[in-house]
Amino acid sequence: MKILSIETSCDETAIALLDISGELARPDIKVLGNTLLSQVALHEQYGGVFPALAMREHQKNLPILLEQTFKEAGYDLEQPDIDFIAVTSGPGLEPALWTGITFAEDLGKKWSASGRKVPVVPVNHMEGHIYSVLYRTESNSKSQAPNHKLDLPALALLVSGGHTELVHIKDFGDYEIIGRTLDDAVGEAFDKVARMLGLKYPGGPKISELADKSRAKKPEIDFKLPRPMIHSQDLNFSFSGLKTAVLYKIRDTRRDDPRYAEGSGKASEEFKQDLARAFEDAAVEVLVKKTRKALEELDSDIKTLIVAGGVSANRRLSHEIKKLTSQFSHLTLRLPDKALTTDNAIMIGIAGFISISTNPGLLRNQAAIKASGNLTLSS
Ligand code: KG4
Ligand code: ZN
Repeated sequence: MKILSIETSCDETAIALLDISGELARPDIKVLGNTLLSQVALHEQYGGVFPALAMREHQKNLPILLEQTFKEAGYDLEQPDIDFIAVTSGPGLEPALWTGITFAEDLGKKWSASGRKVPVVPVNHMEGHIYSVLYRTESNSKSQAPNHKLDLPALALLVSGGHTELVHIKDFGDYEIIGRTLDDAVGEAFDKVARMLGLKYPGGPKISELADKSRAKKPEIDFKLPRPMIHSQDLNFSFSGLKTAVLYKIRDTRRDDPRYAEGSGKASEEFKQDLARAFEDAAVEVLVKKTRKALEELDSDIKTLIVAGGVSANRRLSHEIKKLTSQFSHLTLRLPDKALTTDNAIMIGIAGFISISTNPGLLRNQAAIKASGNLTLSS
């Protein structure tokens, strides 16, 4: 199936043209064209994503990326051989989602009018993150390595700037959210802590780099931050208390510790590195502990553990998750390739393929697609 996929839920505008066939557990995925424009640099000054600006940028970028994608694939823009268009309908920033949806529907109408009908199928962004683990970047190269296999049932730890969720994937298209954050998402906490340390958005990778520098210098640091909800009986998370603990640590250190001041009133590099490490250790420990609890509660039933979303690029997290996986026999770990950890259109196309395979009625559905900022995964 030839799929054009469009992603505009946050600060990445992305379009891909995919050819997907075969069984759901190991589809044969060919990427014919793949383009992405990140707005990260633009939003940096706001310390986060500014919705009206994101929308304007998506509108500007979409036609450019479409042309590039088609050029890469050697496709004709006027009458392309496409089976359907997959577009993210949520969750995300609604003004941003609408730009993608409107663009997709206009294209669908235009192409349908000039020949064969091209339906538009809504895709849940989180389903995209889940299935991002199916695609291997090398499989598109000359080596033709096969894509990954996904044995279900699976447990997914979804960690991004907007979400922190544990999802029980009972079957393709059949999900139950068994744990979620009660306040901030873990990626958001990384970003906010980075901001407190004077680092630019998105802060996740920068915090991680600082933390690694501290670890390379010394075996231990002399303080620890709280692990919110680590002992709670449920599978939920909370990161806002941890963020506040970082704020207090900065305040107290500024008051008491000569290391902090270094003349200008700014945090010393050493303090920043140690604080980043203490924060990363706390956040990762909670994520891993709750994932372990979920695996134990779901019993030996679970065949695959998926960790996906922007924060899955975190080295500390993947290291600890690998250790956890090795303690469960018959459990396979699936992490996305680095390029697919953050938002992209390839994952949206794969999720679209899985949606229409489990629910072919979607291709006949004529109803207009609506943006849904809080869309959740369901059965
Ligand atoms: O999935 P994503 O691209 O966008 C959303 O759907 O939210 O995730 C972006 C988030 C940001 O909060 C960013 O700081 C975080 O992923 N992130 C990381 C790392 N790389 C990206 N967090 C921790 N460590 C990283 N290496
Ligand atoms: Zn995302």
